[in-house]
Amino acid sequence: MNRTRHDGPLIVGGGLAGLSAALEAARAGAKVLVVTPEPLLNACSSAWAQGGMAAALTAADSAELHAKDTEAAGAGLVKPDATRALTAAGRETVEWLAALGAPFDRDAEGGFVVSLEAAHSVARVARVGGDGAGRAILSAVVAAVRAEKLIEVWDDARLKGLAQDEDGRVVGAVVARGDRLVEITATAVVLATGGAGGLFAATTTPAALKGEGLALAARAGAEILDPEFVQFHPTAIDVGLDPAPLATEALRGEGARLIDGAGQFLLGAEDDADLKPRDVVARAVHAARSDGRGAYLDARTAIGEAFPHEFPAVFAACMRSGLDPRVSPIPVMAACHYHMGGIAADADGRTTVAGLYAVGECAATGVHGANRLASNSLLEAATFGRRAGAAVAGETGGGRPLPVVVSPDLPEAAMADLRTAMTAHAGVVRDANGLLNLIALIDQLESRHGATASLLAARLIAQAALDRRESRGGHYRADYPQTDTAAEHTRIRLAQPATLEAAE
Ligand code: SIN
Repeated sequence: MNRTRHDGPLIVGGGLAGLSAALEAARAGAKVLVVTPEPLLNACSSAWAQGGMAAALTAADSAELHAKDTEAAGAGLVKPDATRALTAAGRETVEWLAALGAPFDRDAEGGFVVSLEAAHSVARVARVGGDGAGRAILSAVVAAVRAEKLIEVWDDARLKGLAQDEDGRVVGAVVARGDRLVEITATAVVLATGGAGGLFAATTTPAALKGEGLALAARAGAEILDPEFVQFHPTAIDVGLDPAPLATEALRGEGARLIDGAGQFLLGAEDDADLKPRDVVARAVHAARSDGRGAYLDARTAIGEAFPHEFPAVFAACMRSGLDPRVSPIPVMAACHYHMGGIAADADGRTTVAGLYAVGECAATGVHGANRLASNSLLEAATFGRRAGAAVAGETGGGRPLPVVVSPDLPEAAMADLRTAMTAHAGVVRDANGLLNLIALIDQLESRHGATASLLAARLIAQAALDRRESRGGHYRADYPQTDTAAEHTRIRLAQPATLEAAE
């Protein structure tokens, strides 16, 4: 193992959250090392976001109204303080990104063009190039990172373990660069490792994201919050691709309709029927497919000839698969899209373990609760990413690292089995039998291949889904369809490898 000392924070992940943290930490004078497994802009969910960034940007809107919508979507589990901190910073964050060069769509007066998405009471999603928000915003941030002399990027380094001193403080990480392991000690570590969509066979996120950050933080003793809450997007385009391309919800905001194979509306004929909360729409799509009716997004009338100009990314994805959405309805399925649960963290990214921060999708700051409001995640990534960067810049480090347990990899065939079982049993509709089968498979794979980080992440999700005997937000139990009166969080601390125990 090679060893290197970095005199500043180490940021693991090169999406919007990690790079926002890097820029802010550098602005505060810290030397920053960013490690990512792929070149910047590749394999991170933020680059794939289509809809845009939710923020109160118009006279019809306010930070308070945005917070209320966020709380309503989160089904009783949204933390009000974190949410108000997020929505109050909406305009400032959008303007910070615009100043970095993010080319938000503007109206004739120079205001931000905003669109409507499900469960928002007003149009508030700032768009870029129609449906190209994520890539355009991240490109501006990447350019700023490249111009910043205090930031160094290793774009070939995959996280394999976290280093702790004898007090349990996180003091660095082990990464794999090709077949070489490198231990990096640092003043603190910020995990910005994204979600866990790659654990599911049907996903709209990069398949490389398999919850490793979540698992390694859990192993380091960090509290894990609500891992059972996974959001399934109702309109992943079903053309046999892995990951599945997304047909943004903004299409439904513009009037595209969900229909079955016989042309009947899936959720009713009212104009706003398809803009119900995402979990409701995802279950309707799932049910239509399960009972053989099929599910399609019909944009022929509402968008028609404007499709290539208004939604170029979705149009290109359809056309690559030989499907012209101007003349044919788009076949859709529900697919894993976002992990609301994650490493418990405050708005500055602080976790329950000293020296360890978490930002973006791997973190659970309480702003998404049981069901994320669409397009809130880019706002959270940039806003809380910046806050974490400012906070971590003040860290001074800890003691000598103890030997690090390096996580083995799960062989490809085993991963394929796991992904299939996760979609079948921890997907849109769950029940005890399915979840027990899934946990039995995880046990079996673990005894065969060792305690890999991806298996631990899958176990955290499956066990918490089994233990939550109600339906709430993105978590739906066919055997417990009711929503309990009291909304309770799941808090988990790992007692020893491979066993889970509720936190005090
Ligand atoms: C979408 O554009 O439909 C996805 C937006 C989001 O998940 O925030």
